[in-house]
Amino acid sequence: MLRRHSMRAKNVQKSEPRVLISEDKIRARVRALAKEISADYENGGELVLVGVLKGSFIFLADLSRELTIPRVIEFIAVSSYANGSRSSGAVRLVMDVRGNIEGKHVLIVEDIVDTGHTLQYLIGMLESHGPKSVKTCALVRKAERAEVDVDVDYLGFDIPDEWVVGYGLDYAEQNRTLPYIGVITPDD
Ligand code: IMP
Ligand code: MG
Repeated sequence: MLRRHSMRAKNVQKSEPRVLISEDKIRARVRALAKEISADYENGGELVLVGVLKGSFIFLADLSRELTIPRVIEFIAVSSYANGSRSSGAVRLVMDVRGNIEGKHVLIVEDIVDTGHTLQYLIGMLESHGPKSVKTCALVRKAERAEVDVDVDYLGFDIPDEWVVGYGLDYAEQNRTLPYIGVITPDD
């Protein structure tokens, strides 16, 4: 038998996250975004969706399956935070895209835009590969936290300045696979 981990272990929340955006609301919004993106890129040739690991993996999976246009999937990984919720401001590339994106339409798919530093860095980084265009899509944005002015072309939801988990988002790697977006108090 496995021993149960102590609920007092570091980074383990005692209470369930509070629902901020339900599964149904997410599904409806993802469908609407996919419809808009499909219409905008119709006749544009193949679209390259660049998912930002790890947080975007569920959003990207659902969004990409709702699209009705030719598309391929790439992933990129960056590191901007320590193992928790403190922002360092600095962004480091951990893994680049594998495919050639030169001359192609690129859509960055992010889980969350907080200060905006990550997305701003990614736009510049991907633009240096010579794509036909670079646009951005994010599931949620904490508008009041913005430190840099970065365009989100396709946005799921604006949310208040609270730490959110679920639907790909984590707190110290916990709660990524919750079906809804919930709020936690990191010091719970
Ligand atoms: P930014 O560079 O400040 O915009 O930070 C973006 C990154 O911070 C996201 O890709 C997430 O990894 C992380 N992040 C910021 N706020 C949250 C949150 O509330 N929940 C989970 N991750 C977050
Ligand atoms: Mg992220």
